[in-house]
Amino acid sequence: MGNTRFIPALTVALLLLNFVVSFSTKTTTNISIDQSALLALKAHVIDPQNLLTTNWSSAFNICKWIGVTCGSRHRRVIALDLSNMSLSGIVPPHIGNLSSLTWLNMRNNNFHSSLPIQLVNLNRLKYIRLSFNNFYGEIPSWFGSFPKLQYLSLSYNNLIGQIPSHMFEGLPRLQVLYLAVNRFSGKIPLSLFQCKKLEDIDLAGNSLEGDSTQRNRKLDHA
Ligand SMILES: *[C@@H]1O[C@H](CO)[C@@H](O)[C@H](O)[C@H]1NC(C)=O
Ligand SMILES: *[C@@H]1O[C@H](CO)[C@@H](O)[C@H](O)[C@H]1NC(C)=O
Ligand SMILES: *[C@@H]1O[C@H](CO)[C@@H](O)[C@H](O)[C@H]1NC(C)=O
Ligand SMILES: *[C@@H]1O[C@H](CO)[C@@H](O)[C@H](O)[C@H]1NC(C)=O
Repeated sequence: MGNTRFIPALTVALLLLNFVVSFSTKTTTNISIDQSALLALKAHVIDPQNLLTTNWSSAFNICKWIGVTCGSRHRRVIALDLSNMSLSGIVPPHIGNLSSLTWLNMRNNNFHSSLPIQLVNLNRLKYIRLSFNNFYGEIPSWFGSFPKLQYLSLSYNNLIGQIPSHMFEGLPRLQVLYLAVNRFSGKIPLSLFQCKKLEDIDLAGNSLEGDSTQRNRKLDHA
């Protein structure tokens, strides 16, 4: 008789165990995607101050790594702040695997690469700040597809060419646009007028038509 009461309890216990196991597997899977993306980044950069060398270690949870912030529910990486770390090297394609990223700040380093196309996978991004680096090449046409992007700063790099004419059509939430002091040329795209929320813009120090030569901005605006 005791057995009939035991069976439902066992079933519940097994279901619970199954839930816990599948839940943690899922979380671990995603954390390890983020972890391998960050370890790939670490492997591609030169880190003269050894800020990442011991800190970004698989022995510790990535959510405790310097510059990394995880979301409270899914424990995915939602923000990456590598500003002012004297890092150089390239940004590897793996950055596109941080699929929950909303905030990317690499300001004031020496990253030397083109803008990795895999960034386009990060469609939750609200904030991209890559100013004061050596990013080069053109702004690719795919760049204008960040539906949530509010802040974009690419100032003080070596970007060249025209600003893609349709770029701003895919940036409906843009509030801040800093592209100052690069080597952009050509016309300022009319699609810029589609950014109805734009509050602050700086395009100075390029060769854009209608470009202002004033550079009286505050540096921390880049
Ligand atoms: C984990 O990753 C898988 C596949 O990449 C995805 O389908 C799933 O939604 C992710 N889970 C969470 C909690 O983010
Ligand atoms: C890594 O850096 C963070 C932030 O500075 C710090 O809280 C953490 O203790 C460091 N971890 C290790 C293992 O040094
Ligand atoms: C990086 O430097 C800028 C300018 O000095 C400063 O405003 C910002 O707070 C610094 N960021 C971090 C994460 O220390
Ligand atoms: C992450 O992205 C890279 C390059 O884009 C890819 O080769 C790799 O398989 C991805 N890694 C994981 C763990 O998903």
